[in-house]
Amino acid sequence: PRNPMADESWRLPNIVQELAAGVQEPPSRYLLRDHDQIAGAEIPEPIPTIDLGRLSGSNGADEATKLRSALQNWGLFLVSNHGVETSLIDAVTEAAREFFRQPVEEKKKHSNLIDGKHFQIEGYGNDPVQTKDQVLDWSDRLHLKVEPESERNLAFWPTHPKSFRNILHEYTLKIRTVKINILLALAKLLELDEDCLINQFSDKALTTARFNYYSPCPRPDLVLGLKPHSDLCALTVLLMDKDVGGLQILRDGTWYSVPTVRDYSLLINFGLTLEIMTNGIFRAPVHRAVTNAEKERISVAMFYAVDAEKVIKPVADVLGLARYRTIKGKDLLVEHYEHFSRGAKVVDSLKI
Ligand code: SIN
Ligand code: FE2
Repeated sequence: PRNPMADESWRLPNIVQELAAGVQEPPSRYLLRDHDQIAGAEIPEPIPTIDLGRLSGSNGADEATKLRSALQNWGLFLVSNHGVETSLIDAVTEAAREFFRQPVEEKKKHSNLIDGKHFQIEGYGNDPVQTKDQVLDWSDRLHLKVEPESERNLAFWPTHPKSFRNILHEYTLKIRTVKINILLALAKLLELDEDCLINQFSDKALTTARFNYYSPCPRPDLVLGLKPHSDLCALTVLLMDKDVGGLQILRDGTWYSVPTVRDYSLLINFGLTLEIMTNGIFRAPVHRAVTNAEKERISVAMFYAVDAEKVIKPVADVLGLARYRTIKGKDLLVEHYEHFSRGAKVVDSLKI
C-alpha cells in the first residue's frame, strides 16, 4: 500500500479547463477560506486613457497631466493610439483562443512541468502548489519567454494555430515600442534624463508573454481566477478580453472592477521593479481576476522584467533616500514566491 505521508500529489496543479468540464462544485482547494468579498465595486470614475502618440509628441503636456493623475488615483492607465494595429490585436486574441480550444492532451505537450512534476517558469499549466492549504486559481495559462530572442524556447511555442509564432513575434516587436514610449514619458514625468528608465533594461532583460485562460466557473462567488498580487516586473502591458470582464484592482481596501474596453486600448500597470526604481513614487497596484459562470475569458500579459543579475534600486539620487532594500532581479523572484505561499506581500519585506 502507498504511504499516505509520502503522497505528494497535492503538489500537482489541475488543468482547470478539465475540472470545469466535469464538476458541478469546484474542489475545496479552489475555495476561498477567509470570506474575502469577491464582488467588485463599480469604479467611480473611468480609468484614464492616455493618447500615447500625443504623450510622446511635442505637445504632450495635457496627456502627461492626465497620466500623472491616473497614476496617483489608480496606479494604472489605458493607452490608445499606441501604434499596434487593431488587426494584430485581434490576431493575438484569436491565436490565444485557438490554442486554448485544443484538447488538453495537445496543450500538455507544452507543459510547464518537467517529467510531469518539476515546475519551471515557461509552458502551459499553473503556478506551483507550495503548501497544502494554498488556494488555487481557476485559470490555465501559457507562459513564454519572448525577449531576448536568443532566450526563446520554441519547444513551448504552439504550432497550433499555425500562425501563432509569427503573430506573437510581431506582437512582441510592436509592444516593445509601446514600452519604450511609456518609459520615456515616465522619465520625463519624474524630471529625470529621458533615457534613464530605458537604460535599466539591458539587452539581457527578460520579456515574457502570458496567455491567461479563465474557464467558466460554477461558483464565481467562492473562487478566484487569479489571486491578489502585484506584478514583479517593471511594467505590464495587458490585452484584456473585449467582451468579458474579470480584472479587479484594490484601492484603499476596496476591490473595484475594471470595465472591459472595446476600443483596442491596452492596459498598463507597474510592477514592483518599477516601484523600487522610482523609490515608491510609482506604485505597483494590487490586482486579481474573478470568474463568471457563463463565459470563458482570455487575457494576454506582456511582462517587462530586468536582467536577472541587475541590482534593482532607485534610478537617481533626486528620488530621495532609498525606501526599499536593493535586490537583484533573480532574488526578487525567489522572495516573491516565498512570501506568496505564506500569504504575505514581498513589497512589505523590502521596505526599509
Ligand atoms: C494578470 O494579472 O496577470 C492578468 C490579469 C487579467 O487576466 O486581467
Ligand atoms: Fe498581474
